[in-house]
Amino acid sequence: MWQMLLDNGVAIVTGAGTGIGQEIARLFAAHGARVVLLDRNAEANRATAQELDPSGRRAVALPVDVRDRAAIDAAVERTIREWGRIDVLINNAGIYPRQEFLSMTEAQWDEMQDVNLKSMFHSQQAVLPHMIGCGHGKIVNISSVTFHLGVPNLTHYVASKGGVIGLTRSLAREFGKNNIHINCITPGAVLVEAEKAVVSDEQVQAFVAQQSLQRRILPIDIARTALFLACELSDGLTGQTLNVDGGWVMH
Ligand SMILES: NC(=O)c1ccc[n+]([C@@H]2O[C@H](COP(=O)([O-])OP(=O)(O)OC[C@H]3O[C@@H](n4cnc5c(N)ncnc54)[C@H](O)[C@@H]3O)[C@@H](O)[C@H]2O)c1
Repeated sequence: MWQMLLDNGVAIVTGAGTGIGQEIARLFAAHGARVVLLDRNAEANRATAQELDPSGRRAVALPVDVRDRAAIDAAVERTIREWGRIDVLINNAGIYPRQEFLSMTEAQWDEMQDVNLKSMFHSQQAVLPHMIGCGHGKIVNISSVTFHLGVPNLTHYVASKGGVIGLTRSLAREFGKNNIHINCITPGAVLVEAEKAVVSDEQVQAFVAQQSLQRRILPIDIARTALFLACELSDGLTGQTLNVDGGWVMH
């Protein structure tokens, strides 16, 4: 029998409308957390919150584009106003459109960095003062195992995800003295709805062939690791990057 690992904790999850973020929100709510869900897809985000708690008392959906600092600040302030603290921040929102490098525009490069990396500058700068004030905090940044591999036609994505690891390590060193734990997850090839639109059956078989575990990695696999990093079970870790990829990259 599982105990409630986040009993009454307050967690902000970005990109909670679909995919990995949605599954993290579900698992956190099941473990007793009050969750604030940020997503630019307002409808999907509202549906997630509704599923978790139709009363709206323990799950709140806020339509936020993570590139918008003012909107993030407002979401953080609202969380503090309603629930008095923020124990956990999950930076998960991200995009991964493919683009061949030589024809990539500056706008495409910038959009990728803004959504996947600069958003984490905004959210952590907004949340950290409150965590410092509370004397504790857990932050989990979602990177990607592609950073360890390098991937053609995803240069802008892989660079953004490497930046996430660098940001995580430096912030972990800067705020360890404040009892704030900041770690990364690097998912492998995770079976989400969005993937189905961009990855062929042959590519799916190729992913599994490269893994040690001969099954697809699912959003719940990432959510369980996020739960571990968000609760006291991981109190001895900070600045780390955990590959949740079925045993693909090992280091
Ligand atoms: N699916 C995979 O195989 C895989 C592998 C490695 C890393 N990741 C990372 O996991 C994270 C989640 O990916 P996913 O596969 O669940 O994708 P997804 O598209 O299913 O979900 C991403 C969510 O983020 C939201 N989002 C996107 N841009 C946003 C913005 N600017 N502001 C607010 N919300 C925004 C979307 O609306 C969506 O709900 C991403 O950071 C992705 O890079 C995924």
